[in-house]
Amino acid sequence: MSTPYQMLGDDGIRALCNAFYDIMDSAPEAATIRRMHAADLGPMKVKLAEYLTGWMGGPPVYADKYGSVCMTEPHAPYRIGPVERDQWLWCMQQALQQTGASEELKTLLNVPLQRIAAAIQNRQDSGTDLGPGVIAVG
Ligand code: HEM
Repeated sequence: MSTPYQMLGDDGIRALCNAFYDIMDSAPEAATIRRMHAADLGPMKVKLAEYLTGWMGGPPVYADKYGSVCMTEPHAPYRIGPVERDQWLWCMQQALQQTGASEELKTLLNVPLQRIAAAIQNRQDSGTDLGPGVIAVG
């Protein structure tokens, strides 16, 4: 069976990540998580592509560059509840759709994407707009 990496290839993963952040940048459905990100999403397009390359069964580009694939720590400064998690997953679903992902690929990724997004979720409530440098109470 092919891995998602084999199905998408490097260009496909890049296209998916570009679409993902372009959707986040413009869709009102993703406004809460858009506000958590830096103004320039360019660097994130590259980082997510590097991460997903390894996560999808390709070469461990992100691990080689940053020394870890743990996503808990880089997300710790952000308030990620169910709303934020679902907005992230919604952007990814839209991006898969927009880039013409096959039904096979979407099915293959469905559960693992839900799992990793749930693992990154770091609270039960969904406060909004808090990012680094903002003091959160509770
Ligand atoms: C669950 C909802 C999620 C939210 C709200 C979220 C939000 C964020 C934010 C705000 C940043 C920092 C962006 C910046 O510096 O401008 C970030 C970084 C990142 N996120 Fe997420 N994220 C989520 C899930 C995920 C998932 C599921 C993955 C991987 C499959 C992922 C991969 C990354 C990567 C690779 C980085 C860069 C980390 C680094 O600094 O090296 N995120 N995320």
